[in-house]
Amino acid sequence: MTGREEEYVRSCITDGFVSSVGPFVTRFEKEVAAIVGSAHAVATVNGTAALHLALLACGVMPGDAVLVPTYTFIATANAVRYCGAEPVFFDCNPETLCMDGAHVRSYFATRCVRKADGAIMDRETGRRVAAVLPVHVFGQPADLAAIVDAATSYGVPVVEDAAGAMGSRYDGRHVGLFGRVGCFSFNGNKIVTCGGGGAVVTNDERIATLVRHLSTQAKRSGIAYDHDAVGFNYRLTNIQAALGTAQLEQLDAKVERKRAIAARYRAHFASSASVRCLGVEQRGRANAWLMTVRVDPDTREGLLAALACDGIEARPAYIPLHTLPMYQMSPTFALEHATRIAPGCVNLPCSADLTDALVDRVAERVQMYCNERVVSSQHRSA
Ligand SMILES: Cc1ncc(COP(=O)(O)O)c(C=O)c1O
Repeated sequence: MTGREEEYVRSCITDGFVSSVGPFVTRFEKEVAAIVGSAHAVATVNGTAALHLALLACGVMPGDAVLVPTYTFIATANAVRYCGAEPVFFDCNPETLCMDGAHVRSYFATRCVRKADGAIMDRETGRRVAAVLPVHVFGQPADLAAIVDAATSYGVPVVEDAAGAMGSRYDGRHVGLFGRVGCFSFNGNKIVTCGGGGAVVTNDERIATLVRHLSTQAKRSGIAYDHDAVGFNYRLTNIQAALGTAQLEQLDAKVERKRAIAARYRAHFASSASVRCLGVEQRGRANAWLMTVRVDPDTREGLLAALACDGIEARPAYIPLHTLPMYQMSPTFALEHATRIAPGCVNLPCSADLTDALVDRVAERVQMYCNERVVSSQHRSA
């Protein structure tokens, strides 16, 4: 909180605009739209709500299928279930950790048929494929060109889960607008935060109007207690928007610092045989939200414990969603890498206020621990 956060939040309290109507909500939406380059932005109470509304606005209905990566945060799949639809879990690319466009194309070509009414149906499940939901994992842009090309050639909308990707670019453009709709999160763990918050961005006016309407209990404008659908209380409050507005003013500086931290880690591990940096930039420029490395899965728990003893908080990364109890029965496609890679993934400390000296200390500690493990396993096998 190094900008005007206190000043903006205080002004909400002095002016009395603390709830979901207030000048900062509009200002925040305008700022998000300007950063992303979208015609519309609708602020929501969190990123999960943004995903839920985006899917509903794209016409996802009970019984439909939505293609999602298995290597993501749980909210991606949960939003699909909130619509009464079923996720189809896709593998991740072993370098980027994101969904692979070739898999999406192959799924449509080998597993789907076009019905007489134009709908695309999964032959195995009989479900209509209603949307593709790629995720920019840890801020790393997904294989957007291939995913969007495959989906649009079958007339299926793409909803980008850009929850952690504020400030990330792909082919020179901000992510979030390559499909029909994009969703962001401004949770406390993101590069810029509202405390909790989200946003839906789109160039489609009909979708923006519907999302706004559903986010405010589907209230007909100007008429109290008159609602025309089952809506949601998903609107961001003015206090949260005030915090977020102040944070957005610092986005560029924070992304620069995050990228510098990631580059420093990469330099440390460039020639390491036991620590591998993930998140290769292909056509994208990542915001470097999280710094993910891969170590030997047998080493990970010990590494996390050793770092914790040194006061360094590193974390295991995602567990593939198709292995979790509520998604074990969901259909999958082309799963190969995710379950193999996930147990070795670790997110290292990378807050924008981390000094170079601290990055060096973490990297050296990680490398030292992994080297010791390699040496001791060589001794054992000798
Ligand atoms: C990929 C992804 N999708 C969705 C979300 C949900 O956002 P929120 O926590 O704001 O609901 C997150 C949050 O971290 C996320 O990482």
